[in-house]
Amino acid sequence: MIDIHTHVLPGIDDGAQDIFESFEILQALANQGVTELVATPHIISGVYENTRSIIDRKLIEVQDIIEERELSIKIHPGAELYCEPDVISKVKRENLTLAQSNYILIETELQRFPDNFEEILFNFQQEGFRPIIAHAERFSPFMNNIDYLLTIVNREIYIQMNSGSILGVYGNAVRDLALKMLNIGCVHLIASDVHGLKKRPILMKDAYDFVASNHSEAIAQILFYENPKRILNNEPLIHNFEGYFDERKKSGSLKNKLKSIFKL
Ligand SMILES: [Fe+2]
Repeated sequence: MIDIHTHVLPGIDDGAQDIFESFEILQALANQGVTELVATPHIISGVYENTRSIIDRKLIEVQDIIEERELSIKIHPGAELYCEPDVISKVKRENLTLAQSNYILIETELQRFPDNFEEILFNFQQEGFRPIIAHAERFSPFMNNIDYLLTIVNREIYIQMNSGSILGVYGNAVRDLALKMLNIGCVHLIASDVHGLKKRPILMKDAYDFVASNHSEAIAQILFYENPKRILNNEPLIHNFEGYFDERKKSGSLKNKLKSIFKL
C-alpha cells in the first residue's frame, strides 16, 4: 500500500513529536503493508508555519533513521494545506505539492466551508494543480448534502478518505457518509492520516480488507495502491466511479451469489 496522508515528520505539527515517535509510526505502517508514504504536515497560517525547507530538513532526519534501522519503507515530501486566501501563492512559492507532482492535498474547517472554497479549488486547477480534498467524509456540509460532494467530484476534484472513517473511528455520522461514498464510488484514495500511535488507530490493513470483501479486491487495489502510485508518478487518477459501482453490482449481486452457492 502507498499512504499519501501522514503526519510523521517530527515536531512540526500535531503528529509525531520526536524522531522516535516518527519511527514508531513508520514501523506500524510498514507492519500493515505500507511500503511508501507521503509526509503531509499541516500548513496553517499562525499555527503551523511550515515551509519547504523545514519539511525537507525533517524529511532527511526521518530518511536517516529509516536507513540506520533498515526499515523497508520509502518517504516523500508533501503537505496538508489549510484552505485560506493566500494558499495558492504559498504552494507556488514553497512548492508544497505531494511528492513533487501537481497534486495538492487540501483541508478546511470541519463544520463549514469558507465562502470561497470552490473558487480556491477552481483557481488551483486554473494554475495547473490537481486538488484532492483530505478526509472529505469528515466534513459536515457533505454529510448534509452528498449531492454537493458529487458536484465537486464531477469538476475533477479528487477525494481522499481516512482508513479509520470506514471502521467508525470518527463516529457513526462519518462512517455512514464514508460507506455511502464507497457505495457510489465517490472516493479516489484511502490513506491513514496518522498522527501518532496513541491517538487513533491506523487501520490501513483493516480498511483494505473491508473494501476488498465488501466491494472487490480490484477496487481496494485502486484506492490503496494504484491511485496513490499515480500521484507519485504525477499521472491522472482512475476516477470512473460509475465503473466502481458496476463492478460492485457484478461481484455482489444476489443472482451471482445464488449462482455460486447452487453452482447454477
Ligand atoms: Fe491530516
